[in-house]
Amino acid sequence: MDMQQIPGFLLTALEVASFLFIFVIGLGLAAIIFLYVVDKTQRKQAIRHNYPVIGRFRYLFEHLGEFFRQYFFAMDREEMPFNRAERSWVYRSAKNLDNTSAFGSTRDLSPVGTVLFVNCPFPTLDTDAAETAEVTIGPYCGTPFITRSLFNISGMSYGAISRPAVLALSRGARMAGCWMNTGEGGLSPYHLEGGADIVFQIGTAKYGVRDAEGRLSDAKLAEIAAHDRVRMFEIKLSQGAKPGKGGILPGGKVSEEIAAIRGLRPGEDSISPNRHPDIRSVDDLLDMIERVRHVTGKPVGFKAVIGAYGWLEELFERIRERDEASAPDFITVDSCDGGTGAAPMSLLDYMGLPIKESLPMLDDLLRDHGLRERIRVVASGKLVTPAEAAWALCAGADFIASARGFMFSLGCIQALQCNKNTCPTGITTHDRKLQSGLDPEEKAVRVSNYARNMVHEIGVIAHSCGVREPRELRRFHARMVASNGRSLPLDKLFPEHRNATLGQRDTAPA
Ligand SMILES: Cc1cc2nc3c(=O)[nH]c(=O)nc-3n(C[C@H](O)[C@H](O)[C@H](O)COP(=O)(O)O)c2cc1C
Repeated sequence: MDMQQIPGFLLTALEVASFLFIFVIGLGLAAIIFLYVVDKTQRKQAIRHNYPVIGRFRYLFEHLGEFFRQYFFAMDREEMPFNRAERSWVYRSAKNLDNTSAFGSTRDLSPVGTVLFVNCPFPTLDTDAAETAEVTIGPYCGTPFITRSLFNISGMSYGAISRPAVLALSRGARMAGCWMNTGEGGLSPYHLEGGADIVFQIGTAKYGVRDAEGRLSDAKLAEIAAHDRVRMFEIKLSQGAKPGKGGILPGGKVSEEIAAIRGLRPGEDSISPNRHPDIRSVDDLLDMIERVRHVTGKPVGFKAVIGAYGWLEELFERIRERDEASAPDFITVDSCDGGTGAAPMSLLDYMGLPIKESLPMLDDLLRDHGLRERIRVVASGKLVTPAEAAWALCAGADFIASARGFMFSLGCIQALQCNKNTCPTGITTHDRKLQSGLDPEEKAVRVSNYARNMVHEIGVIAHSCGVREPRELRRFHARMVASNGRSLPLDKLFPEHRNATLGQRDTAPA
């Protein structure tokens, strides 16, 4: 084609495009030269100095790798803290999708600690299955809490999680008939709005029940207890991810609303100490339990991750000396690998015992002191799938609580950004834009589906083991693979404290 035949406007467009192209290339080259000089002359980062410009990609890929590994490279059972198989189970059950798998298990059954259940040759027929039994917590207090709920929402404060997340959880919990723990950030209107049973947590800063000096206020306690939906009180001694660590709520985050809920002055930094200043010993703990129970008339327990356990022996002995009524109505035992909004890695990775050890230990100690029926046990820590929860029931839990399982049901993608304000799913951020993707109505249904499907499938495991309902599971129903490659039943693996207080039903059938 002759150049003269090309329309003038097309020629002009081509000219502009080629000029732009050369300009952009030029600009790119100039930027590279600029970055080269910047990198070569800086002394803070050796990689950038030694490999100018190109070294920058290391930081970019390191950041992006966090997100892409889970999609492209990590195997189904590889990721931490939760692998894809576990997360997918929660996502699918929250959406009420088919959760069966094909062809065979992808789980490696050889590592030490692998849990296996003992199937019964004659499983329980649906017609013989029973509903989970009612459990009474706090038989000696004015308003005991009687519940069938097996799987519940563990403490996450309003502040650590967003308003729509609290709303979705409390509505979902009501729909599923389980309880929701407030976490240490006080009771917000969003906890109440959903209508779920609430466990009010008393943290070391006593948020929501503190006087002007930060001490526990009986008047505030009574005010909280006056809400019918508040069923129990939990004194938090520690949580698995950060035993011995308090926290700082920076003034910038202390909005008018948060200040009102927590009992702070707006805009002022709030420091929660690393233990309750008024609980220095087991006697102090029992006194505090007695005081809260007396003021509220409702069951009172405590939450702790267990490391040292001599203090539990001492506590149970003291209860025996006082009387059974003085005991905590429940103990929540959290695993050392529990979740958190933010914690130092040294505590996250190294402090406390995992639930696989601490739960049977607590159960044994309670039995040794004849307190097993008096004090109910709530277990938490990566118990997000039915098999993990069923293991905990075998090992001695009366109830299971989960935080991150319910976060997954809300759509959490394990972006590991709970300590920033950038959670991409709107769960742990106060950024309104990011929150807008979290519809409390819709997510409440998912929360409820997840809780129900968990209980259903724990039931499936229980029936395969030949019992009528999950709370009939006992230690001999689960085995764990030991270092010689053979599995041992839990009642043989953890025999240390077991004595005559064991009931007949706790003995394995011949
Ligand atoms: C975002 C977030 C906030 C939390 N806040 C609290 C809290 O306020 N009080 C508490 O006792 N535990 C808190 N936890 C710990 C959980 O309640 C729970 O004990 C722990 O995560 C183990 O359960 P999981 O493995 O099912 O998450 C928090 C956990 C997360 C992930």
